[in-house]
Amino acid sequence: TFDAAVVIEIAEGLRGLDGPLLPILHAVNDRLGHVDQRAVPLIADILNLSRAEVHGVVGFYHDFRRAPAGRHRVQVCRAEACQAMGGEALASRLEQVFGVPFGQTTVDGRVTLEAVYCLGNCALSPAAMIDGEPVGRATVARIVEGVAR
Ligand code: FES
Repeated sequence: TFDAAVVIEIAEGLRGLDGPLLPILHAVNDRLGHVDQRAVPLIADILNLSRAEVHGVVGFYHDFRRAPAGRHRVQVCRAEACQAMGGEALASRLEQVFGVPFGQTTVDGRVTLEAVYCLGNCALSPAAMIDGEPVGRATVARIVEGVAR
């Protein structure tokens, strides 16, 4: 969702920081789930930057989502320990099952697939997380079931 008032409140609140652009973008991304196109001119105006500068920064960092996330967020650990324990096969099966590559959302808006690098759950690799809930020894079946709601 896009909420201009929230974007303005965040940008006004953080504009006094040394190097305020990244903290503002992070705060917008966290609060609204993504950095909407429409947030760019608002932030640019408040910081006295050009829209192109703000656009450039949003595009450069992969942390910022450009579109709203799906209803369920599936994060799959793609770090070494999990890769070695079947994480690689799990990741490619999930891309097939959901029909999107990592970093994208299914067309029905149900699932966003995200790669993460260590969830701190290496003992139960391959590790995943569904909507913030850890899934140890993750399998395609458990993940499909987890997003069925
Ligand atoms: Fe996957 Fe740590 S390497 S949870």
